[in-house]
Amino acid sequence: MTKTIEFPRNFLWGCATSAYQIEGSPLADGAGPSIWQRFMHTPGLVPSGDTGDVACDHYRRYVSDVALMRELGMQAYRFSVSWSRILPNGKGAVNQAGLDFYDRLVDELLKSGIEPLVTLFHWDLPAALDDLGGWLNPDIASWFADYGDTLFRRLDDRVKKWVTLNEPWVVSDGGYLHGALAPGHKNLFEAPIASRNLMRAHGAAVQAYRATGKHQMGLVVNLEPKYPASDSAADQAATARADAYMNRQYLDPAMLGTCPDEELTEVFGEAWQPWSAEALKLTRQPLDFLGINYYTRSVTRFDERSWPQRAAPVRQKQATYTETSWEVFAQGLLDTLVWVKKRYGDIPLYITENGAAFFDPPVAEGGRVRDPLRVDYLRKHLTAVHTAIQQGIDVRGYMVWSLLDNLEWSLGFSKRFGIVHVDFESQKRTPKDSARFYSRVIATHGAAV
Ligand code: NOJ
Repeated sequence: MTKTIEFPRNFLWGCATSAYQIEGSPLADGAGPSIWQRFMHTPGLVPSGDTGDVACDHYRRYVSDVALMRELGMQAYRFSVSWSRILPNGKGAVNQAGLDFYDRLVDELLKSGIEPLVTLFHWDLPAALDDLGGWLNPDIASWFADYGDTLFRRLDDRVKKWVTLNEPWVVSDGGYLHGALAPGHKNLFEAPIASRNLMRAHGAAVQAYRATGKHQMGLVVNLEPKYPASDSAADQAATARADAYMNRQYLDPAMLGTCPDEELTEVFGEAWQPWSAEALKLTRQPLDFLGINYYTRSVTRFDERSWPQRAAPVRQKQATYTETSWEVFAQGLLDTLVWVKKRYGDIPLYITENGAAFFDPPVAEGGRVRDPLRVDYLRKHLTAVHTAIQQGIDVRGYMVWSLLDNLEWSLGFSKRFGIVHVDFESQKRTPKDSARFYSRVIATHGAAV
């Protein structure tokens, strides 16, 4: 007999997106360009040639998108604000029309009974700030706090859950170390500086929030548990380096006021500089919750050629891999939640992203999209979340990534993460089987898992 799954009645069920990935109209109504606008329009940087000029056209279709969320039974919607819509130059003059858009979106959500979760920064840095050094300029902490303050004053009367940064590791690793993401730098010395300034900016924004905001503030990190490929000392050390680099580099300063210097010195060599007392103090601010984005794990081995960590993932046999080459491994989500509680204590947790890109067949006659692998992925990961709750871990909600097929950054539109199919020619939305499945899960408090 299979046992029935039941989530707590107040568990928050929702979905997530981000501004540049869905909105389109990036320069509308007085907005300034972001680094992603610039990156995707620079010939040769993005193989597909895709841009966010139209994306899901959500900027113009937000009313019907909110209606769709309501139809699917969403209780919460995690979205991000485009900094350069609010402050076209990144700082200074406020663009009221940009603020008005998010004001209307929040009202539309509330009218539909959907709780907004607002992320301040999901990678689309104003290009004007990049011209001043972007995340390499220590002044960015106060620019970010001022930007946050503008939003808090306008929306905190209605928004009860805020997030400073989305996935700082990806910004530093993709944007400053390997260069596959905007702003496209490949520099060992820059990456740790960018990471530190991201976290200082996080701390400064939390401080600004405590001065004006009345509700909850959190941080979203992507966590990927690292498992050693063998018990050899070299593999164990490589695993510790990979974990410090991706996971602890961000959460240790934010939650403990420390930094894993030993392993990060092994990763960055002379490019690693221990954080100053000021940086550690600013970064460690009490948070109301942590948001965890979980997609996959890594079985890690020592690899001399893998720069700069000398640690590489080992491909697993008899495992399912998604279209972004990520192993489906739901146990890793449970392990991650257990680890977070053990290392950082008992703080409310939200799964702020979880989902998968799989090949989807064309929309069939009658408007059906069969995506059994995505349904299976969600089922397994939701079961892991439920197990975590049963083990006493304080998980309060789950946001599937993503509501819509959207712009998967440098990979363009080819990687489809949506539970709703988007025809990018006609902009028609068609809920996939996974959306129907997820609706049933929400309606049954998890019993349909
Ligand atoms: C994490 C990022 O926050 C999001 O922007 C991205 O599309 C998904 N992961 C999938 O890669």
